[in-house]
Amino acid sequence: MSDSARRTRSDGGRHGGATYRWPQSFSGVQTDMPIDPKVVAKWNAAQWQANVKYARPSGGGAVGVLFCFTRTSTSYPINQADFVIKPLPGSAASTQFAEHTLSKLVGATSMQSEGIARASPLGNAIVMWVEHVVDLHDLDPIDNAHPDIDRLRQFAPQLRGAGSFVVQRVAQGMQELDAAYKTVDGLDRILTNEKLMRSLGALFVADALLGNGDRLDQLNAGNNAFDSEGKLFSLDSGTVLTSFDKVLKDSTKQSWTRTDNTGALTSWHWAADILGKDNQGGVAVLTPAQRQLKQGGHAVATPPSARMTLLFTPNRIWDYFWSDLRNKVHFYNQERARNNQPLIPRPSNLAISNAKTWFTKGVHAGLAKADSMLGGVAWLQTKYKFKELRAKHGGDPNYSWTNLKIRRLIVRAAKEGKSVEQAHQLVTDYVQRKFNDFSL
Ligand SMILES: Nc1ncnc2c1ncn2[C@@H]1O[C@H](COP(=O)(O)OP(=O)(O)O)[C@@H](O)[C@H]1O
Ligand SMILES: [Mg+2]
Repeated sequence: MSDSARRTRSDGGRHGGATYRWPQSFSGVQTDMPIDPKVVAKWNAAQWQANVKYARPSGGGAVGVLFCFTRTSTSYPINQADFVIKPLPGSAASTQFAEHTLSKLVGATSMQSEGIARASPLGNAIVMWVEHVVDLHDLDPIDNAHPDIDRLRQFAPQLRGAGSFVVQRVAQGMQELDAAYKTVDGLDRILTNEKLMRSLGALFVADALLGNGDRLDQLNAGNNAFDSEGKLFSLDSGTVLTSFDKVLKDSTKQSWTRTDNTGALTSWHWAADILGKDNQGGVAVLTPAQRQLKQGGHAVATPPSARMTLLFTPNRIWDYFWSDLRNKVHFYNQERARNNQPLIPRPSNLAISNAKTWFTKGVHAGLAKADSMLGGVAWLQTKYKFKELRAKHGGDPNYSWTNLKIRRLIVRAAKEGKSVEQAHQLVTDYVQRKFNDFSL
């Protein structure tokens, strides 16, 4: 008898305190090591029910993730979870391609996401498990207490309405930028970490290529995560490679962030969205799963795409990053002042100027790496990876190969010293050739 079968039996039918499990005799994988996401992705519904003893939703993020535990414990600290389940609006290809690209371009530690189809037996087991915990709590809130019950209750419809799931490793030794600057010497430590500064510079380029605007372009300090050495984690990484075809057909027009003066969307406007001209970038199109959630009255957010115009002035990207970060610190300091806590001091000019030098070197290194990934054999490999993932996990309106090719064109134009206007014309011509089926 395996460990888990023993545990299952000795737990009995009724669970004291915070253990939830469906009555099962199936015995599953049980080790003291965190479980490989590849193994979890292959579980059937019965294995999920037998193995998962407890789960906690994350606090941060718009939707969040579920930390899953396969061993019973008294406190369930999040860093001791065995794996993470993250609901996605669309295809798991988006996350996997982003993680692949970030490990190539910035050496980021991958969360090793593996896709789980929403409609699969395992996908249904995940949804039903959480709903069951909420139901049990409602039947008997004392015996079935759960410290995160309110958050779990909010999370349940997001799981049910997901387009797909990924299972990920739990990042170990991870700090988020959002927490890292919130100690008196925190900001100083961030700026004096050369590896971190270089990596963030390169990350800016990689996210611009992927269209991921919800990290650096619009500074989301909860999506910037790194270890003590300054190595990044590819936390919350996806692609916003919005398909022109899908934007044109978007009946909500939510993704029409700019149009001509007759209200029409043209290839010129779509190209301007990708470039992020006039400080305005595009957004993701609602996926079919999100449209349904929205119709059901649930909140859905469409992540911003990343603007690419900044790539044409690489030496100025630091200024954008630093002004966003300084703003965050400024608002946080107001809160500290209200609580009579010592303020986060402004780092020395030397620390700021060193940080700028490293960050900017990172931007240039990122551009060079992106350029080499976008040419020759490496580009063929990229194309293969992109299409292989789509074949495996299905399509997604924000996983467009044409959009990625356009971003490639833009990175290359920036690298060659072309102007934003020249790039805009190049892209518009390209789109018109590509989409001459649509009358624009
Ligand atoms: N694989 C992971 N390991 C550890 N913590 C994670 C992991 N994934 C997410 N988290 C935590 O949960 C938070 C929310 O997850 P995230 O993927 O950013 O969701 P959202 O898309 O809703 O922003 C993150 O900011 C981080 O604190
Ligand atoms: Mg997030």
